[in-house]
Amino acid sequence: MKRRKDLITVAIDSPAAAGAGTQAKLISKHYNLFYLDTGKIYRYIGYLKLNNKNKISYNLIKKKVKSLKISYLQDKNLLSDEVAVSASVIARDKKIRNIVHKFQQKCAYSPPKKYNGSVLDGRDIITVQVRDAMFKFFITADIKIRAKRRFNEYRDLKKKITYREVLKTLRIRDKSDKERKHGPLKKTKDSILINTTKLSKKACFKKIKAIMDKKLNN
Ligand code: C5P
Repeated sequence: MKRRKDLITVAIDSPAAAGAGTQAKLISKHYNLFYLDTGKIYRYIGYLKLNNKNKISYNLIKKKVKSLKISYLQDKNLLSDEVAVSASVIARDKKIRNIVHKFQQKCAYSPPKKYNGSVLDGRDIITVQVRDAMFKFFITADIKIRAKRRFNEYRDLKKKITYREVLKTLRIRDKSDKERKHGPLKKTKDSILINTTKLSKKACFKKIKAIMDKKLNN
């Protein structure tokens, strides 16, 4: 695969609902970068699994990922808690992580020409997918705040789920994502920690923008 050399690459890792997606979108818009929410690919596979009575071959997953279009990832069905849990289960599988790897590499290093680069967010972006990223951010927040934010999103989507249930599945996913063998979530020494517990979206982006501008304008 050809790599564009002039790229601005931004890699973000974070636990669920810490605000990484919101910041990635703001970064993508401000710097004209191609955005990939990598969690959506795992959700897409998790959703396939749920809808095929859990019987789905690696070959079929491979085919589906090969013909995957970014627009498929905008499907509202991918936003449920059930799909999130299914995603975190299939995400433990090394074979599935390998299938998804190529798609992410293309988005990170060969985004459409109209973009100045790429921004990817997920769990293993800094540690595995874009290890040489120009900017590395580890975004986190207190779990109760994350649960509250996710609960509000579900409420806006009219999903029937309680705050307690959201908190419980976030705890389960955090544990699974951090303790799994392949591509676990962890902060690298060279990534910048951003804690959004007490930060508004705007204040958080201001912080990120200051860091990025300093390097880009040098
Ligand atoms: O980010 P989101 O909550 O949509 O991700 C759903 C699940 O997909 C996560 O809980 C995680 O298990 C998995 N995932 C992953 N690696 C990524 C992105 C997401 O394993 N890069």
